[in-house]
Amino acid sequence: MSAPPEATAPRVLLLYTPTSYRATAFIAAAERLGLDVVHGMDTPEPLASHWGLPVALDFARPEEAIARIGALHAEHPFAAVLAVDDGATLLAVEVSAALGLPHNDPASALAARDKWEMRQRLAAAKVPVPAFRRYPLDADPAAIADDQHYPCVVKPLRLSGSRGVIRADDADAFVAAWERTRRIIESEGANGEPALLVESYLPGVEVAVEGLLTGGKLRLLAIFDKPDPLEGPFFEETIYVTPSRLPPGMQAEIAARTAQAAAAVGLREGPVHAELRINAAGVWPIELAGRSIGGLCSSVLEFGVGIGLEELILRHAVGWPLPATAREHHGAGVMMIPIPRGGMLRGVEGVAEACAEPGVTGVEITARVNHPVTPLPEGSSYLGFIFARTDSPAAAEAALRAAHARLRFRIEPTIGLTLIP
Ligand SMILES: Nc1ncnc2c1ncn2[C@@H]1O[C@H](COP(=O)(O)OP(=O)(O)O)[C@@H](O)[C@H]1O
Ligand SMILES: [Mg+2]
Repeated sequence: MSAPPEATAPRVLLLYTPTSYRATAFIAAAERLGLDVVHGMDTPEPLASHWGLPVALDFARPEEAIARIGALHAEHPFAAVLAVDDGATLLAVEVSAALGLPHNDPASALAARDKWEMRQRLAAAKVPVPAFRRYPLDADPAAIADDQHYPCVVKPLRLSGSRGVIRADDADAFVAAWERTRRIIESEGANGEPALLVESYLPGVEVAVEGLLTGGKLRLLAIFDKPDPLEGPFFEETIYVTPSRLPPGMQAEIAARTAQAAAAVGLREGPVHAELRINAAGVWPIELAGRSIGGLCSSVLEFGVGIGLEELILRHAVGWPLPATAREHHGAGVMMIPIPRGGMLRGVEGVAEACAEPGVTGVEITARVNHPVTPLPEGSSYLGFIFARTDSPAAAEAALRAAHARLRFRIEPTIGLTLIP
């Protein structure tokens, strides 16, 4: 769908970090829509000018970033300021508030970013959540291990992609999980409060939900099933398949619960990515973030003819009407290829064979050969992505598994190289 005719194209500031998986898709969608894109990258000035990018920002110094963006806005106003992923959602809200652009309430944006704030808001609104408790990072885990109900899950407040999320089944495992998660949080430097969250472990199957909020109303865009069991101790994201194979009634419950969670958190505008667990006791939000799905996963979503998720998000951001969002294909899936063990990636084989599997539409290896790879819970990346489009969700899942079985990753142990202090 082409952009509505405008005298001048709306100007959009995209905020992203150099390692973002999401930037390319947003930039491509903005170009397709004919938007005037300004790149706001979290990077030192010399690097940004080397890449020919106009705006180098330090996301860790929001006041300076806001002042810089404000000066640009005064010269040539932005229609929207958009964070492409987690790293800048709070900054985007603060900037939008400063520039007088539509935005989410900053406290709600924080609650969609910080798991402790989120849990409190969900619980206050009577949305079912696991039992949860926050502890300061310097607490002694051995002294509180007996207070926990097992199994439980230890997690950081503000990381993503399951980093530092560890299940513990007993006191010894709790102490080990705590120490490990604490080290991961410390290796990230100060990002919010030095604390971690302990939650009761919820059994069940898990789904991910993509949605878009307009004036507080949620438009459900997709429900992804996660067919691999996610039982811990670490929670690797692997296969996502849509449309969901859960019964329609349950999907309706998932949609309703996601809308309820978004309202409880207080988000009203823009993308929502939620994860929920379903068991005999009901539908439980694990997480609700004010962003779209991570990695390269969004590329399997197509709304109408060739309209991608980023296009919908950008249209919403600049206030353009949204097209119908019915999806026509019958099965689509993506596999985030997990890193099986740490070391130096020396080679990748079988990509052509994986691509040749029926239903597979692409294989993208994003890890770089001769660079170290780090698995969960410390790691924050994948080896790559496999994409499938088929006539059913079951066929999409089968295609992803068949393609993955074709891939061989040569990872050499790195002796004496410690990546995490
Ligand atoms: N209380 C819980 N019970 C069961 N599984 C959980 C719980 N909390 C997290 N998980 C698992 O860990 C994954 C990552 O946790 P989440 O809170 O979403 O952190 P992140 O922001 O890193 O994605 C979830 O998708 C889920 O599979
Ligand atoms: Mg999550």
